[in-house]
Amino acid sequence: MDRSDVLVQHDGRIPKARYTSPEFARLELDRLWSRVWQIACREEELPEPGDFVEYEIGDQSLLVVRGEGGTIAAFHNACLHRGTRLAAGSGCFTEGFMQCRYHAWRYALDGRLTDVVDAHEFTELPEGLRLGAVRAECWGGFVFVNPDPDAEPLLDFLDPLPGLLAPYRLEDLRLRAQLSTVLPANWKSVVDAFNESYHVQGTHPQILPWTDDVSIAYEQLGKHARYGRLAGARRELRPSPRLELSEEEYDEGEILAGLVAGLGGAFLAEERALVEELRAAHLPKGELLPAYQARRLQLLTARGIDVSGFEPDRMTSAEDVYCFPNVVGPIYPGSAILFRSRPLGLDPDRAIHDTWVLEWPRPDAPPRPVTRRDYADWAEHDWGEITNQDYANMAEVQIGMKSAGFDALRLNPRQEANLLHMHRVLDGYLDR
Ligand code: FES
Ligand SMILES: [Fe+2]
Repeated sequence: MDRSDVLVQHDGRIPKARYTSPEFARLELDRLWSRVWQIACREEELPEPGDFVEYEIGDQSLLVVRGEGGTIAAFHNACLHRGTRLAAGSGCFTEGFMQCRYHAWRYALDGRLTDVVDAHEFTELPEGLRLGAVRAECWGGFVFVNPDPDAEPLLDFLDPLPGLLAPYRLEDLRLRAQLSTVLPANWKSVVDAFNESYHVQGTHPQILPWTDDVSIAYEQLGKHARYGRLAGARRELRPSPRLELSEEEYDEGEILAGLVAGLGGAFLAEERALVEELRAAHLPKGELLPAYQARRLQLLTARGIDVSGFEPDRMTSAEDVYCFPNVVGPIYPGSAILFRSRPLGLDPDRAIHDTWVLEWPRPDAPPRPVTRRDYADWAEHDWGEITNQDYANMAEVQIGMKSAGFDALRLNPRQEANLLHMHRVLDGYLDR
């Protein structure tokens, strides 16, 4: 593979090999995944010392462990004797140490090798052996890992997302569901599908009557990006301008109901009731949305939720955030749906795709159980109409990209600017 053939072209075209070539997938593993901060799990998945989560990336397996003192550490998931994977999935080292299943070498939760069976026979074994360390740092309730000992601090990598997202208090969110599946596409195609609104008219035309898919701002932020409705558009309920409807031809109440149906969070039933109540009041045009936003703010405040960081017009608006390299999704006041996509082994044609549904817990109620599901085939599960449509595109993208008649992606310079930015940041890793 000639490197110049796979870099982003001067005219912004994206060579298809970045999505289809096994060599490029290997290059990403060697230069990107081995050096980038990436989300391994949520902190609340590791409540007690000894709790662990395995994180797989490409052909690598990492182990994230809550230690005795409560700190979280990560290791390469391989016994120092003959390499056996130490743990799979998630669980707890209840005895306070990790023991290899094969010859029973033992490791403390901080990775130190503490017990070797028949140690006196290993005359060459050096003192102080420990599992290969991987950096682990937390932000927003997420555990990020990075195998590169020389990587920048996590907060430098994330900048400016932590400041931007501070009012959303991601660290207070709790997992409601974690759904995993495999999609028949490159991991980047999956991320791309959630990083622009340009496809809404082609893929989800049914939502145009209550979605302004055009008045969207795309913004590149450090290595990351976001997109969302323009500030002015947040204060109006209007359909897609593509439908060319006059004001008499659409109903604000229907648009608000459509909008709220897409929100998540612990108080969804109350919020839907609020919409119905306000619709019944037949407010003059232009007053329904501000009224709903003010009431939603009151509702959450009355439930003991701190929404002090939000202007009322943020209450119905998602920050669609892209955290390089592979997490993307809408974040609302009180809830978030985040998608994480990563290569399955070294296969450029398949991605492990995780969906996290997160919400601020009700302060007055006991914690709700987390739904965890793993679907070997994405089509086994109904992900909802919109997401089903997105996933159905994935195989077609991957098959079509391999066509001899297709060389490179031609991105829309405005509406797909976040995708181009992702590729440029990726090239920064591949070039180092
Ligand atoms: S491979 Fe782990 S103890 Fe032998
Ligand atoms: Fe979509």
